[in-house]
Amino acid sequence: MEVDKVVVFGSSGQLGQTLRRKFNWSGPTSKELDITDSAKVTRFLKGTRPTVVINCAAFTNVDEAEIKTQSCYSTNLKSVKILSELAIDLNFYFIQISTDYVFDGVKGDYSETDHVNPINFYGLTKAWSEKFVPRGSLIIRTAHLFSDFKPNIISFFLKKITEGSQIQVVVDQVVSITYAEHLADFIHWCVNNRPDGIYHFVNEGSVTWLNVVQLIAELKGLDIKVSEISFQELGRIAARPLRSNLQVCRVNKIFNVKNWEIALKEYLCKNIPEKWT
Ligand SMILES: NC(=O)c1ccc[n+]([C@@H]2O[C@H](COP(=O)([O-])OP(=O)(O)OC[C@H]3O[C@@H](n4cnc5c(N)ncnc54)[C@H](OP(=O)(O)O)[C@@H]3O)[C@@H](O)[C@H]2O)c1
Repeated sequence: MEVDKVVVFGSSGQLGQTLRRKFNWSGPTSKELDITDSAKVTRFLKGTRPTVVINCAAFTNVDEAEIKTQSCYSTNLKSVKILSELAIDLNFYFIQISTDYVFDGVKGDYSETDHVNPINFYGLTKAWSEKFVPRGSLIIRTAHLFSDFKPNIISFFLKKITEGSQIQVVVDQVVSITYAEHLADFIHWCVNNRPDGIYHFVNEGSVTWLNVVQLIAELKGLDIKVSEISFQELGRIAARPLRSNLQVCRVNKIFNVKNWEIALKEYLCKNIPEKWT
């Protein structure tokens, strides 16, 4: 059997680094190749001739996206158009990573067939980008990633809990969270099995940030000092969907999705670099 040649874009990001470490896949960093540069991306892929391209590159700062709209638009939308066209021309299996923020958060518990209606610019670019992805390719919508690389929402809470600081916790959001290691395992399975269409992949179970903070404290055997606030009180630039939790029924039919408590336990058992905690 022919061995796949896999290229990962966004290879220095949370998910990109996780994929590189676990499976020894490679891909250019943003400094080596700007994914919005059509000519350079085309030249690179024509030279590399991958059988699989995984796009983890994105403009992911949701608040900055409201201000740097042009940059967000190019990174999240133009690049996906370029890669989608090349997927057809060069006949590679294309995996595009998308987000729970394509939804407005009114209904919650979203399935793959639910209507998208983003309420911030980041979500809008990600939702539009999904339209370019050609047949035979795969879109994976994930949410609130945490990884062994780069600071993230879970390492932020862990730091505050470990310091014994008072933590402001938003209590009116219902979300899904995703350990990048588990998403990476699913992506690896997809490379070998080639499912297409849209799949949601998050750790099973809907949570509030208070649930998350309480479990971190319990697993670490630490007390917490919480002040409960609403998302509105955080004063963020971009709106967020209040109930963006995703269903995993579809993916559960083909892959064993671990629940969020197991994911947090596994993450906290690892040696997280001190600079993040
Ligand atoms: N993080 C989350 O909570 C979350 C939630 C839902 C969905 N997602 C989606 O999951 C995917 C992976 O997210 P992540 O957390 O791994 O993101 P991340 O850590 O922010 O990494 C994004 C990567 O994209 C690269 N990039 C940005 N602009 C680029 C450009 N013009 N050309 C080439 N590369 C560029 C960045 O490079 P530099 O670092 O050099 O700028 C970085 O390596 C994204 O599609 C994201 O939308 C993430």
